[in-house]
Amino acid sequence: MRTILSIFAFAGMTLSIYSCGGSSEPKKTEAPVKEEVAVVVTQESNELGKKIYNEKCIVCHMANGEGIPGAFPSLVGSEYLLTNKVGAIAQTLNGAPGGSTIKGIVYNAPMPPQVDTKEEAVAVINFVLNEWGNNGGTVTLEDAKDIVINPR
Ligand code: HEC
Repeated sequence: MRTILSIFAFAGMTLSIYSCGGSSEPKKTEAPVKEEVAVVVTQESNELGKKIYNEKCIVCHMANGEGIPGAFPSLVGSEYLLTNKVGAIAQTLNGAPGGSTIKGIVYNAPMPPQVDTKEEAVAVINFVLNEWGNNGGTVTLEDAKDIVINPR
Protein backbone atom coordinates (compact mmCIF):
# COMPACT_ATOMS: atom_id res chain seq x y z
CA MET A 1 0.00 0.00 0.00
CA ARG A 2 2.80 2.42 0.90
CA THR A 3 4.50 1.68 -2.40
CA ILE A 4 1.32 2.32 -4.31
CA LEU A 5 0.90 5.63 -2.48
CA SER A 6 4.42 6.65 -3.34
CA ILE A 7 3.82 5.84 -7.00
CA PHE A 8 0.90 8.27 -6.92
CA ALA A 9 3.13 10.82 -5.23
CA PHE A 10 5.74 10.44 -7.95
CA ALA A 11 3.14 10.55 -10.69
CA GLY A 12 1.83 13.78 -9.19
CA MET A 13 5.31 15.21 -9.04
CA THR A 14 6.01 14.23 -12.61
CA LEU A 15 2.78 15.83 -13.76
CA SER A 16 3.49 19.08 -12.00
CA ILE A 17 7.02 19.19 -13.36
CA TYR A 18 5.70 18.59 -16.85
CA SER A 19 2.98 21.16 -16.52
CA CYS A 20 5.14 24.01 -15.26
CA GLY A 21 8.27 23.24 -17.31
CA GLY A 22 8.73 23.88 -21.00
CA SER A 23 7.89 20.75 -22.95
CA SER A 24 10.78 20.91 -25.38
CA GLU A 25 13.68 20.92 -22.91
CA PRO A 26 14.87 17.33 -22.64
CA LYS A 27 16.80 17.83 -19.36
CA LYS A 28 13.72 18.62 -17.30
CA THR A 29 12.12 15.30 -18.11
CA GLU A 30 15.13 13.22 -17.09
CA ALA A 31 14.91 13.39 -13.28
CA PRO A 32 11.27 12.26 -12.86
CA VAL A 33 11.77 9.34 -15.24
CA LYS A 34 14.72 8.16 -13.15
CA GLU A 35 12.72 8.35 -9.92
CA GLU A 36 9.90 6.32 -11.42
CA VAL A 37 12.40 3.57 -12.19
CA ALA A 38 13.52 3.64 -8.54
CA VAL A 39 9.92 3.13 -7.39
CA VAL A 40 9.49 0.13 -9.66
CA VAL A 41 12.61 -1.44 -8.14
CA THR A 42 11.15 -0.95 -4.66
CA GLN A 43 7.93 -2.68 -5.68
CA GLU A 44 9.86 -5.64 -7.04
CA SER A 45 11.95 -5.79 -3.88
CA ASN A 46 8.80 -6.08 -1.80
CA GLU A 47 7.74 -9.13 -3.77
CA LEU A 48 11.25 -10.51 -3.33
CA GLY A 49 11.09 -9.71 0.40
CA LYS A 50 7.86 -11.66 0.81
CA LYS A 51 9.33 -14.62 -1.05
CA ILE A 52 12.46 -14.62 1.12
CA TYR A 53 10.36 -14.36 4.30
CA ASN A 54 8.25 -17.33 3.27
CA GLU A 55 11.29 -19.39 2.34
CA LYS A 56 13.58 -18.57 5.27
CA CYS A 57 12.20 -16.58 8.17
CA ILE A 58 8.78 -18.18 8.49
CA VAL A 59 10.06 -21.35 10.15
CA CYS A 60 11.12 -19.38 13.22
CA HIS A 61 9.24 -16.08 13.16
CA MET A 62 6.02 -17.77 11.95
CA ALA A 63 3.51 -16.74 9.28
CA ASN A 64 1.97 -14.13 11.57
CA GLY A 65 5.41 -12.71 12.45
CA GLU A 66 4.85 -13.40 16.13
CA GLY A 67 7.51 -16.06 16.50
CA ILE A 68 7.41 -18.38 19.51
CA PRO A 69 7.81 -16.69 22.90
CA GLY A 70 11.01 -17.87 24.58
CA ALA A 71 12.42 -19.33 21.34
CA PHE A 72 12.04 -16.87 18.47
CA PRO A 73 11.09 -13.25 19.10
CA SER A 74 8.11 -11.56 17.51
CA LEU A 75 8.77 -9.17 14.64
CA VAL A 76 5.39 -7.53 15.15
CA GLY A 77 6.05 -4.22 16.84
CA SER A 78 9.68 -5.32 17.47
CA GLU A 79 11.43 -2.32 18.94
CA TYR A 80 14.79 -3.46 17.60
CA LEU A 81 13.48 -3.89 14.05
CA LEU A 82 11.56 -0.63 14.01
CA THR A 83 14.25 1.54 15.59
CA ASN A 84 17.45 -0.08 14.34
CA LYS A 85 16.74 -0.89 10.72
CA VAL A 86 20.41 -1.04 9.70
CA GLY A 87 21.04 -3.44 12.58
CA ALA A 88 18.16 -5.59 11.36
CA ILE A 89 19.67 -5.71 7.83
CA ALA A 90 23.06 -6.66 9.30
CA GLN A 91 21.50 -9.35 11.48
CA THR A 92 19.78 -10.88 8.47
CA LEU A 93 23.17 -11.12 6.73
CA ASN A 94 25.39 -12.08 9.66
CA GLY A 95 23.03 -13.61 12.21
CA ALA A 96 22.79 -12.73 15.91
CA PRO A 97 24.46 -14.36 18.90
CA GLY A 98 21.34 -14.88 21.02
CA GLY A 99 20.94 -13.85 24.63
CA SER A 100 18.65 -10.86 24.05
CA THR A 101 15.91 -10.04 26.52
CA ILE A 102 12.90 -8.82 24.57
CA LYS A 103 9.77 -7.66 26.36
CA GLY A 104 10.97 -9.45 29.50
CA ILE A 105 11.61 -12.80 27.80
CA VAL A 106 15.14 -14.16 27.26
CA TYR A 107 16.03 -15.55 23.83
CA ASN A 108 19.09 -17.75 24.22
CA ALA A 109 19.29 -19.31 20.77
CA PRO A 110 21.33 -17.53 18.13
CA MET A 111 19.81 -16.48 14.81
CA PRO A 112 21.88 -18.01 11.97
CA PRO A 113 22.79 -15.86 8.94
CA GLN A 114 19.87 -15.95 6.50
CA VAL A 115 20.81 -14.34 3.20
CA ASP A 116 24.01 -13.74 1.24
CA THR A 117 23.44 -10.38 -0.43
CA LYS A 118 22.52 -6.90 0.74
CA GLU A 119 19.79 -6.79 -1.94
CA GLU A 120 18.06 -9.78 -0.35
CA ALA A 121 18.53 -8.44 3.18
CA VAL A 122 17.09 -5.03 2.28
CA ALA A 123 14.15 -6.65 0.47
CA VAL A 124 13.17 -8.90 3.37
CA ILE A 125 13.61 -6.15 5.96
CA ASN A 126 11.36 -3.89 3.85
CA PHE A 127 8.80 -6.68 3.92
CA VAL A 128 8.85 -7.22 7.70
CA LEU A 129 8.91 -3.47 8.36
CA ASN A 130 5.52 -3.16 6.68
CA GLU A 131 3.74 -6.42 7.44
CA TRP A 132 1.34 -7.45 10.24
CA GLY A 133 0.49 -3.84 11.07
CA ASN A 134 4.15 -2.76 11.33
CA ASN A 135 4.52 0.72 9.92
CA GLY A 136 8.29 0.90 9.82
CA GLY A 137 9.05 2.82 6.65
CA THR A 138 11.60 1.57 4.17
CA VAL A 139 15.31 0.86 3.88
CA THR A 140 17.50 1.12 0.79
CA LEU A 141 20.79 -0.39 -0.34
CA GLU A 142 22.34 2.95 0.60
CA ASP A 143 21.42 2.26 4.26
CA ALA A 144 23.32 -1.03 4.02
CA LYS A 145 26.49 0.40 2.49
CA ASP A 146 28.62 0.23 5.65
CA ILE A 147 27.58 -3.28 6.65
CA VAL A 148 30.42 -5.79 6.38
CA ILE A 149 29.22 -9.27 5.45
CA ASN A 150 31.06 -11.86 7.55
CA PRO A 151 32.95 -14.52 5.59
CA ARG A 152 30.90 -17.69 5.31
C1 HEC B 1 16.44 -20.55 12.94
C2 HEC B 1 15.50 -19.59 13.45
C3 HEC B 1 15.45 -18.21 12.82
C4 HEC B 1 15.30 -17.88 11.49
C5 HEC B 1 15.19 -18.82 10.30
C6 HEC B 1 15.25 -16.44 11.44
N1 HEC B 1 15.38 -15.90 12.69
FE1 HEC B 1 15.31 -13.92 13.18
N2 HEC B 1 15.67 -14.40 15.13
C7 HEC B 1 15.86 -15.68 15.62
C8 HEC B 1 16.29 -15.60 17.01
C9 HEC B 1 16.62 -16.79 17.92
C10 HEC B 1 16.37 -14.24 17.34
C11 HEC B 1 16.87 -13.62 18.65
C12 HEC B 1 18.38 -13.46 18.50
C13 HEC B 1 19.09 -12.85 19.68
O1 HEC B 1 18.56 -12.83 20.78
O2 HEC B 1 20.26 -12.41 19.49
C14 HEC B 1 15.93 -13.52 16.13
C15 HEC B 1 15.80 -12.14 16.05
C16 HEC B 1 15.42 -11.44 14.92
C17 HEC B 1 15.24 -10.01 14.86
C18 HEC B 1 15.37 -9.05 16.03
C19 HEC B 1 14.09 -9.08 16.83
C20 HEC B 1 14.16 -8.25 18.10
O3 HEC B 1 13.10 -7.73 18.54
O4 HEC B 1 15.26 -8.11 18.68
C21 HEC B 1 14.93 -9.70 13.57
C22 HEC B 1 14.64 -8.32 12.99
C23 HEC B 1 14.91 -10.94 12.83
N3 HEC B 1 15.20 -11.98 13.69
C24 HEC B 1 14.62 -11.04 11.48
C25 HEC B 1 14.69 -12.22 10.76
C26 HEC B 1 14.49 -12.29 9.33
C27 HEC B 1 14.16 -11.11 8.44
C28 HEC B 1 14.64 -13.61 8.99
C29 HEC B 1 14.60 -14.22 7.61
C30 HEC B 1 15.43 -13.62 6.57
C31 HEC B 1 14.91 -14.33 10.21
N4 HEC B 1 14.94 -13.46 11.26
C32 HEC B 1 15.08 -15.71 10.26
C33 HEC B 1 15.67 -16.86 14.93
C34 HEC B 1 15.51 -16.96 13.56
